[in-house]
Amino acid sequence: MRFGIHTLDEFDLAGKTVLCRVDINQPVDQKTGTLKSINRIQACVPTVRELSDGGAKVVLLAHQGSDIEYKNFYTTAPHAKVLTDLLGRDVRFLDDVTGPAAREAIRSLQNGEILLLDNVRFCAEEQTLFEMKLNLTHEQQAKTQVVTKLAPLADLYVCDAFAAAHRDQPSLCGFEQVLPSAMGRLFEQEFCVISGVMESPARPCVFVLGGAKISDAFLMMETVLKSSAADLVLTGGLVAQILLLAKGEQVGSGSLDFIRKSNYESFIESSRPLLAQYGDRIILPVDVAFLDESDRRAEAEIGAVPADICVMDIGSKTAADYRERILAAKTVFVNGPLGVFEKPETEHGTRTIWNALAQTKAYTVLGGGDSITATEQYGLVERMGYICTGGGALIRFLTGEELPVVRALRHAAQAFPADHPKE
Ligand code: 3PG
Repeated sequence: MRFGIHTLDEFDLAGKTVLCRVDINQPVDQKTGTLKSINRIQACVPTVRELSDGGAKVVLLAHQGSDIEYKNFYTTAPHAKVLTDLLGRDVRFLDDVTGPAAREAIRSLQNGEILLLDNVRFCAEEQTLFEMKLNLTHEQQAKTQVVTKLAPLADLYVCDAFAAAHRDQPSLCGFEQVLPSAMGRLFEQEFCVISGVMESPARPCVFVLGGAKISDAFLMMETVLKSSAADLVLTGGLVAQILLLAKGEQVGSGSLDFIRKSNYESFIESSRPLLAQYGDRIILPVDVAFLDESDRRAEAEIGAVPADICVMDIGSKTAADYRERILAAKTVFVNGPLGVFEKPETEHGTRTIWNALAQTKAYTVLGGGDSITATEQYGLVERMGYICTGGGALIRFLTGEELPVVRALRHAAQAFPADHPKE
């Protein structure tokens, strides 16, 4: 047991049917059906291999894409091929999740065999919109289709999806109510590294906060500033634009439209007390970059930003300043790129910061899909301290709130279900 959660060491796997929830959510090129990155698939390989080597009948459950943004929403068929290559053993794919075909395939598994079911978010109860609207308890999640159809066929539930541990969905939090449950190796490793660094970070400890998915970012900022885990927070991306607006600065109508469209406008008002209290430790850009009418990079200092632009990167002065602060730090947490790094015109800020991360002597921890993609794009994977597969999950973890999946796994460790669920 670790962190009050069962580990794989405690279970005899031979001949057991194990439902293993992984997070292999990757960006997909939907035209060609190929995965643009495979880092999360690589990360779950040790757990899947251990289960299969131990003689378990392995059933993998995973989501692909977001139903909120309706982006990357795709079958998990390509993932099975990648897993087959990485494991060097066959991973069967079935385009079903809870139906008769899936259940029959699970029943017919032999020891050591691996089956990947289709995107669990093809089931309504697994969608984030469903979660947000209905907010089911874990007991209620145990009564959903996914759990009631699959749990009776399994002996053990393993959650290796740290990157989805901030989600409160049946395939993540429902099985723990009815099956013996453990965390997988990746989950254990991510939990261990991040809690370790958070408990006593070497100082100065600097957080770099960028990206465009920022729902939990302000709460997280408040937590790490209040607890003094962070000495400084360097801001980029949407977080910086919202904070600049909260200070009464202009960031261009294009940026404001994007903030409104993303439903983040309320953060402009709600972040003011944060700035009032911790303004000296929250570092905002002094200049920004955008594209001019000819789609060329242009920069402007804060206070002189043209009215109709959309900010797409931090400016060169800001990048140089952040670089120095990262080089002087002893611990750096990074979540999200500083701008639209996918475009050559607007990648300067992200590239500068990533190079500084590679050069600094500080222990660096990076999280989030885009941060990982940027690290791969710049060929710097080996130069980072620890790359966490989670983005949203890492931010929620850093808010200090117990993650729903951690709560469910701890519950399972305390209250072992007496009766095995029946079909
Ligand atoms: C992620 O990409 O952060 C995880 O896979 C969770 O995805 P979600 O934010 O769509 O729930």
